[in-house]
Parts: sequence; C-alpha cells; structure tokens
Amino acid sequence: MNGKLKDKIALITGGGSGIGRSTALLFAREGAKVVIADITTDAGQETVKRIVDAGGEAVFVETDMANPDDIENMVKATVDKYEGLDVLFNGAGIPMFAKAADVDVEEFDRVININLRGVFLGCKHAIPVMQQRGGGTIVSIASTAGITPNQYVSVYAAAKAGVMQLTKSIAIEYGADNIRINCICPGFIETPMTSLIIPEDTAARDYSHLWPLPSIGRPEDIAQAALYLACDDSSFVTGTALVVDGGWMVGTQMPISKSG
Ligand SMILES: NC(=O)c1ccc[n+]([C@@H]2O[C@H](COP(=O)([O-])OP(=O)(O)OC[C@H]3O[C@@H](n4cnc5c(N)ncnc54)[C@H](O)[C@@H]3O)[C@@H](O)[C@H]2O)c1
Repeated sequence: MNGKLKDKIALITGGGSGIGRSTALLFAREGAKVVIADITTDAGQETVKRIVDAGGEAVFVETDMANPDDIENMVKATVDKYEGLDVLFNGAGIPMFAKAADVDVEEFDRVININLRGVFLGCKHAIPVMQQRGGGTIVSIASTAGITPNQYVSVYAAAKAGVMQLTKSIAIEYGADNIRINCICPGFIETPMTSLIIPEDTAARDYSHLWPLPSIGRPEDIAQAALYLACDDSSFVTGTALVVDGGWMVGTQMPISKSG
C-alpha cells in the first residue's frame, strides 16, 4: 500500500474509539502496519476489522494504560509482530468532571496514571526501539484543557499540561537520535467521550461564542494533524503542541460597537 506512512509500523493506544480509531484508519490508509492497543477488546478488534476489510494490515493487543506491565508488553508485542516500531500514537485517555474537593485519591490516581503516566511509559519503552531503527516519531494527545482549562477538569487538565511538558523535554533529549516527539491539543471533538455533554438537539449546538469556526471538531480533524506529525511532512518539527480547536484558544469574542 502506498502513502505517507508506507511500510511504517504504528502503535496506536486508544485505537478502539473516537480520535484513536480515526487515526488508526487514516494511518492504515497511508500504508502503515497498525497495532491497536486498547482496554476495550471488542472496540479494538472492530478497528482492526475495518482496516483489514479495507485491504490494510492491523492487529490488536489488549492493553490497560494504567498497568505499566501492559505498556511494556504492547511495545514488545509490536516488535515481535512487525519487527520494529516507527510511530507511537498516545491516544488513550479518560475524562473526569468533578469539583476538586469531590475528587478522591483513587480517581486522581486513575486519571493521572492513564492520561499522563501511560504516555510517559509509552515513550519510555518505544524510544529504545526507535533508537535502534535510527529514528521514529511520537504523537501524543494532550488537550486545550492543558492550556486553558474549564471548571471541573482540574486533574484532567493537569495531566494534559503534563503531556505537553513531557513532550517538550523528551523532544530535546532524543532529537539527536532522529526521534521527533510532538503532541496535539484538540479542542472540542465529537467522540463517544464527549457525547455525554454534547446537546442531542443540533440546533442547541451553538459554540459560536467560544470559537470562530462554525462547528464541533471531528475525530478526522485530529487524525489529519496526527498524520502530519507522524510522517516526513513534519521532518523539521519536534517538541511542539499543535492546537486543533477551531480557534478556541485564540480568545473569546467580545461585543464591540463598530461605531464606538
Ligand atoms: N474528544 C475531545 O473533545 C477531546 C479533546 C481533547 C483531548 N481529547 C483526548 O483525546 C484522546 C481520545 O479521546 P476520544 O475523545 O477519542 O475518547 P474515546 O472515549 O472515544 O476514546 C478513548 C479510547 O481510549 C481507550 N481507553 C480508555 N482507558 C484506557 C486504558 N486504561 N487503557 C487503554 N485504553 C484505554 C478507550 O477504550 C477508547 O477506545 C484522549 O486522550 C482524550 O483525553 C479528547
């Protein structure tokens, strides 16, 4: 299969749903052999099936990103299957909406372990494999919450800000090894994660007071950004946080009288 990731081996965490699935399908269309790592077996297998049905190559590895042994195993399973690893996409993540005083220690640890420690350990185990191959790319999913958070997302926002800083520091450490490490800060993207808080009534989906572009983001918008950062199109880009948010982080719109 031809494409921007022709013959590359890509490991995608959270590939069973939303942004991860969309990224997996795009990477496979662009010629990558894809390993889907997800805690939800049925969903991960479904992504594999869609890739294979479309003529691509993919396998599933059941992985809990809260479990350090699973993370080491997903990298090992990728190398055992395809004899290498070129692209790591850190997409697995969980939301959390609660006021700070209502968060218990177990919830705090779970969000940090999956959304931050999991990304760190994915990098830790992928980097030596990429060093041996002479290079590679890592794309992690942070969030606009890591830049400008809302209420009720303190722990989630802290984890995502952590992903942004991990990305920068690790990018400095491994640039000389030809390993590029970047992250994406999605804004509000329509996925199963956000479906609970998106109004069902499309007429009620007016986000025009928040960002300039007239829609909610799609998983495909993030997948395209991930492809750019994963492939040679971004060969001089490392340590960046690419914001894909319809312009949300630019600032809110203030009513101003033109005549004033
Ligand atoms: N949807 C948004 O608006 C938005 C915005 C900013 C950032 N993000 C981030 O994008 C990423 C993907 O989110 P999404 O919206 O596609 O959500 P989603 O719920 O559709 O997909 C998340 C995937 O991660 C998997 N997962 C969850 N916990 C896991 C674990 N412990 N181990 C392995 N896999 C696990 C789920 O099974 C699922 O397949 C997350 O990191 C999320 O924080 C999403």
